[in-house]
Amino acid sequence: MKVDVLVIGAGAAGLMCAITAGQRGRHVLVLDHANKPGKKILMSGGGRCNFTNLGVTPAQYLSANPHFCKSALARYTQWDFITLVEKHRIAYHEKELGQLFCDESSKLVVRMLLDECAAAGVRVETSCAVEKVRKTEEGFAVLTAKGEVHADSLVIASGGLSIPSMGATGFGYELARQFGHNVLPTRAGLVPLTLSGKHLEHYQDLAGVALPVAETRVDKRHFRAGLLFTHRGISGPSILQISSYWQPGGDLRVDLSPEQDIGDWLVAQRAARPAAELRNVLGDLLPRRLAQRLCELWLGSKPMRQYRDAELHDTGARLHDWPIVASGTEGYRTAEVTLGGVDTDELSSATMQSKRVPGLYFIGEVVDVTGWLGGYNFQWAWASGHAAGEVA
Ligand code: FDA
Repeated sequence: MKVDVLVIGAGAAGLMCAITAGQRGRHVLVLDHANKPGKKILMSGGGRCNFTNLGVTPAQYLSANPHFCKSALARYTQWDFITLVEKHRIAYHEKELGQLFCDESSKLVVRMLLDECAAAGVRVETSCAVEKVRKTEEGFAVLTAKGEVHADSLVIASGGLSIPSMGATGFGYELARQFGHNVLPTRAGLVPLTLSGKHLEHYQDLAGVALPVAETRVDKRHFRAGLLFTHRGISGPSILQISSYWQPGGDLRVDLSPEQDIGDWLVAQRAARPAAELRNVLGDLLPRRLAQRLCELWLGSKPMRQYRDAELHDTGARLHDWPIVASGTEGYRTAEVTLGGVDTDELSSATMQSKRVPGLYFIGEVVDVTGWLGGYNFQWAWASGHAAGEVA
């Protein structure tokens, strides 16, 4: 079979690329080895797909070249995707921090993309593994489980390594290497952190305890959002966000009450409740079991009247700067994204085309561009897919 554009990967980026190329009149085939398209879209946002963010800017992306994402993000913006969602009458709402979610189901986003594919004459083939890719004089020959496909342009949209049970593979990285591209080291991002040894023993039984707002910090990065203790360590949006910046062995601090000066609050509490023990007083500010545990392990506890101002301010300062000794991450099994990937140095930021191999494109998560939690990763998938679809 011969097509103009062959897209490998029927995820967010691949479908968007296919739609854009199809709308230009290109004959487009999308192949995926999974049994249905858009599996990650379906599971995203707790089944409601956080499909973009009102506040997307290049600052919310990690990449060895932080400028690379700018062109594509500027040419296909969150507003463009919102217009598409509205055209398909998909109801949505802003949850927090500009995050847009479907009111009903992620299925509607997949349906929308497949309807757009159909309207643009794009063919989507699932349950079709790719066995071999080679360059030909005219383009590419791709051997698949269903026969050989020849294409002028080949778009790699096979995603990252996170959630292997959903069909994630290292295919895109291997193919990049096959064609001489550099692949930057990959690691799990937006992922819960694990504790081990005595650190795990100290907090394991707090699994399920949550703080509605904490501020996690690594170097100069900080994120203010919820935090959750798990059986294996810590999670919640503030931890997922900072996990993309944390390296094993790195310093991680948590402000357990970023919206309140804890020292001042404790001084006021001492005046109001001089006989109360610190651990009980702190139980009104933090989850009770966490307050008890921190007092047992770290802060001590005595009646409030026995503390001097300086001691209460010191206790406050410690709670605003709690050091967490994480042993690692939960890895790709639960990570939302893969950091690193195909080096942007050898890709055009305007078109995502390889500078080494004309006609070869890399889009979406397989590229070394990773967004924060909050709809930024889908926006990169839409924008990079659109950029390639305009020229492939
Ligand atoms: P994606 O992974 O979507 O698609 C790649 C496709 O390639 C898959 O269909 C796969 O089967 C296929 N493929 C892989 N190897 C292949 C091979 N060898 N041959 C053929 N096909 C192959 N982001 C966000 O912005 N908002 C959110 O709400 C969420 N929520 C979320 C929840 C969970 C649980 C996860 C794991 C991730 C998210 N994300 C997210 C991240 C988001 O899902 C991710 O960034 C995008 O799906 C990336 O889009 P891609 O199209 O690049 O890859």
